[in-house]
Amino acid sequence: MYFRSGNQAAHTSIALDGPSGAGKSTIAKAIAKDMNYLYLDTGAMYRAFGLYAIKNGVDFSGSWSDKGNEKKLISLLDSFDLDVKHVDGVQRVFVNGEDYTDFIRTNEVSKAASAVAVVSAVRLKMVELQRKIAAGTNVVMDGRDIGTYVLPNATVKIFITASALARAKRRYKELLDKGDDSHTFEQVYSDMIERDKNDSTRSFAPLTRADDATLLDTTNINLEESIEAVRSIILSRLGLE
Ligand code: DC
Repeated sequence: MYFRSGNQAAHTSIALDGPSGAGKSTIAKAIAKDMNYLYLDTGAMYRAFGLYAIKNGVDFSGSWSDKGNEKKLISLLDSFDLDVKHVDGVQRVFVNGEDYTDFIRTNEVSKAASAVAVVSAVRLKMVELQRKIAAGTNVVMDGRDIGTYVLPNATVKIFITASALARAKRRYKELLDKGDDSHTFEQVYSDMIERDKNDSTRSFAPLTRADDATLLDTTNINLEESIEAVRSIILSRLGLE
């Protein structure tokens, strides 16, 4: 283990924010393991609600918000009971007792997640659970609004980004590695740009770097180098260097 923990009265929280494909979740997992902290993937929570909405007939194609979908999403929240559990160190998301974890990484669910994340009522429900989890333990949380909104007093904040092209290439490779060849690179790239726009232009808690977050651009560095860079930022922020 690289880090000592428990040297502060309150729990320590590490906020990793940034657009999709920047490497956040892989980095967060590695750091959480090193530090023996809980890893909370907040995107999985929005994905779970996106999938729940699809299963309940919400159509996210085209300009989804023009179809009265927002109202439907808000009403679906009443019957949406989300549980986040860690089984053997791996996060699993349950909706009304059903394990959604293995079904939330498709391109369709990515789009739905970005769309539901625009709705304030949806965000408030997720944020409540995220804060509750962080209050009880040392945590590495990744998302879009952790440093700016969910945990404005996080011990360490890092904004991880990369060029849209580099991120799309990584996402495309991930899909292919999973055996999903149903999308062209051009589709993945344009979806990525669309999602970036959606996530960063929404009015409530948009994707943006907190003033006190350290910026890390991973366009020209590999995963190991990115993890090392994050580790070093954390060590220095925690005064352990
Ligand atoms: O990190 P991800 O790709 O799994 O996130 C899926 C979507 O969820 C993303 O497009 C935006 C949304 N999201 C969010 O709005 N706030 C978060 N803290 C995490 C994710």
